[in-house]
Amino acid sequence: MSSSSSSSSSSSLLAALAICLALLFQGSRAQLRPSFYNTTCPDVSAIVLSVVQEAQRSDVRITASLTRLFFHDCFVQGCDGSILLDDSATIVSEKGAIPNNNSLRGFNVVDNIKAAIERACPGVVSCADILALAAESSVRSSGGPSWSVLLGRRDGTTANRNAANNLPSPFDPLSTLQSKFSAVGLGNTDLVALSGAHTFGRAQCKSFSNRLYNFSGGRPDSTLNPSYRSTLQQNCPQGGPGSTLNNLDPTTPNTFDKNYFNNLQGNRGLLQSDQELLSTSGAPTASIVNSFANSQGTFFQSFVQSMINMGNISPLTASRGQIRSNCRRVNGS
Ligand code: HEM
Ligand SMILES: *[C@@H]1O[C@H](CO)[C@@H](O)[C@H](O)[C@H]1NC(C)=O
Ligand SMILES: *[C@@H]1O[C@H](CO)[C@@H](O)[C@H](O)[C@H]1NC(C)=O
Ligand SMILES: *[C@@H]1O[C@H](CO)[C@@H](O)[C@H](O)[C@H]1NC(C)=O
Repeated sequence: MSSSSSSSSSSSLLAALAICLALLFQGSRAQLRPSFYNTTCPDVSAIVLSVVQEAQRSDVRITASLTRLFFHDCFVQGCDGSILLDDSATIVSEKGAIPNNNSLRGFNVVDNIKAAIERACPGVVSCADILALAAESSVRSSGGPSWSVLLGRRDGTTANRNAANNLPSPFDPLSTLQSKFSAVGLGNTDLVALSGAHTFGRAQCKSFSNRLYNFSGGRPDSTLNPSYRSTLQQNCPQGGPGSTLNNLDPTTPNTFDKNYFNNLQGNRGLLQSDQELLSTSGAPTASIVNSFANSQGTFFQSFVQSMINMGNISPLTASRGQIRSNCRRVNGS
């Protein structure tokens, strides 16, 4: 090999390496920011808020449902709007996954938000960002904190049914919840703060009825308050319909507040995954539960930070992904 050809091949190798490094750097540096739509869709936050509040007037639960959508989107291949895709020739939807089927709701409201935004600024705002904004509007409109939502996510072109089937389960032991959160870069404080979203909304009997009758050794869950348990047994009789709804927060079911954590202190966590945060012996999450139970300000501050952390899970930015024109379908399909 001549010296000139070897130097040219090593310099093209260097160039390729530089491009790879630049792409890597851009990938890790790709920053979401609150001002992303400032010039292209300045009213986007106000539009989302108004559609959410209009929906809330006829459906007090919708704010909880929209907040949950954001969680189920972000935990499955990042916050890419994949949760919104319908089944099609090329998509096996996440909607059909076990944790989601006959459980997730709010898709029509997302469609209404998208339609209102498309009228104001066509082709600009991603469905992934709509979910982030709708969650903030929902929390704020239910008495919780408001915050500046980081924006600039783009929409994915794929869904992942298997990953959706592996979403955190109410029957998971705490250690599994911790590992599912740490797999997406979230820690114990995020786990506890984000579980605080169970301060509003509903759960079906089938999501917790195993705790009521024969949890272990033929006995109900010993970490469930007996009088709360008997109320739940009346609403969820053995062999009865698994789809009956129950308030996740029996104290203030429609308000975003810290009562969820006070409920845990009284053994009134509805889901096994809720009560475990406090009742698992030696768990590092217990002291976080107690600190949020003692201070709504502390809870709200942590919740906002954790929603931002969750919203940062693998966003598609720059030229990756697309801006869907219909949140239910990949463009051109
Ligand atoms: C820690 C792991 C979590 C588990 C195991 C879990 C599990 C569940 C389950 C089983 C339900 C009831 C579903 C049904 O019965 O149909 C539910 C509802 C809900 N979850 Fe979670 N969840 C978790 C974390 C989160 C997070 C991080 C958020 C949001 C930040 C969230 C927000 C909600 C809301 C608002 C509802 C009520 C939805 C409605 O009424 O439509 N959850 N969750
Ligand atoms: C974007 O708009 C918001 C609200 O109008 C304003 O507070 C903010 O300073 C703007 N940011 C930039 C970077 O232009
Ligand atoms: C979702 O639930 C419906 C019943 O409501 C059922 O017909 C359908 O097969 C379920 N989807 C999947 C993918 O299991
Ligand atoms: C409780 O569950 C165990 C297995 O988990 C089962 O062997 C037992 O028969 C059940 N008892 C009742 C009363 O249903």
